Amino acid sequence: MIDLHSHILPGIDDGARTIEDSIALIQQSIENGVSKIMATPHSNIGTFDNDLSGIKQVFNELCLKISELDIKVELAFAAEVRICPEIMLLAKKQQLPFLGQYEGKNLLLLEFPDSHIPPGSEKFVSWLLAHNICPLIAHPERNRDLWQHPYLINEFVHLGCLLQITAASLLGSFGQKSQQLAWQYLDLDLVHLVASDMHNLKRRPNRMAEAYQVICDKFGTDKAKLLCIDNPDLIFSSNPSIQSFKGKL
Ligand SMILES: [Fe+2]
Repeated sequence: MIDLHSHILPGIDDGARTIEDSIALIQQSIENGVSKIMATPHSNIGTFDNDLSGIKQVFNELCLKISELDIKVELAFAAEVRICPEIMLLAKKQQLPFLGQYEGKNLLLLEFPDSHIPPGSEKFVSWLLAHNICPLIAHPERNRDLWQHPYLINEFVHLGCLLQITAASLLGSFGQKSQQLAWQYLDLDLVHLVASDMHNLKRRPNRMAEAYQVICDKFGTDKAKLLCIDNPDLIFSSNPSIQSFKGKL
């Protein structure tokens, strides 16, 4: 499987704290059947001030460490960017960390606050799309406005946004409302891919193997493969920062 949303870079957000944590998360992902991982640290002005160059530096440090170990994996980096007006400035400066390409557009992992959808988000998303940036909305199933009004997501989908559901949401880790909404969006065929959003081994590990199985059980193998392998792989493959590690031969 291919995981496009993870917090494996050490010490720069609320995910892995140390490089040992990073390695443990990567190994646990491999045990889950994941072979390619996109590091997507939070980029949230005032909380996690991660920019493109800072993320790249930590990514390179992690890659150096992984190259010394017997680990077979592919890694790349982007970011999970919290919606804010400053994104427009970063877009103009070409400083946004994109996941890759989707239908000729740059794909941005865009996060809304869990509490609500900020007023003007549709207009903001339209601006991004007009500037060749396609938002992949991170875990909409965890948004409290969408719990109340699930159909509010339709406007974003109609504008051209993609949706990422979190594996652990399907399994109930974020509560019943998130679980129900995640399945509802899958049922409505609104979801482009499933990712782990892993942060740590204890409370927020990679649960993609279990998620793959429950999607298979409900919708069949083709849909599970599309959401966990084919769709994310197309995007991953277009990321310019990919590093391949072969492990010991
Ligand atoms: Fe995340």
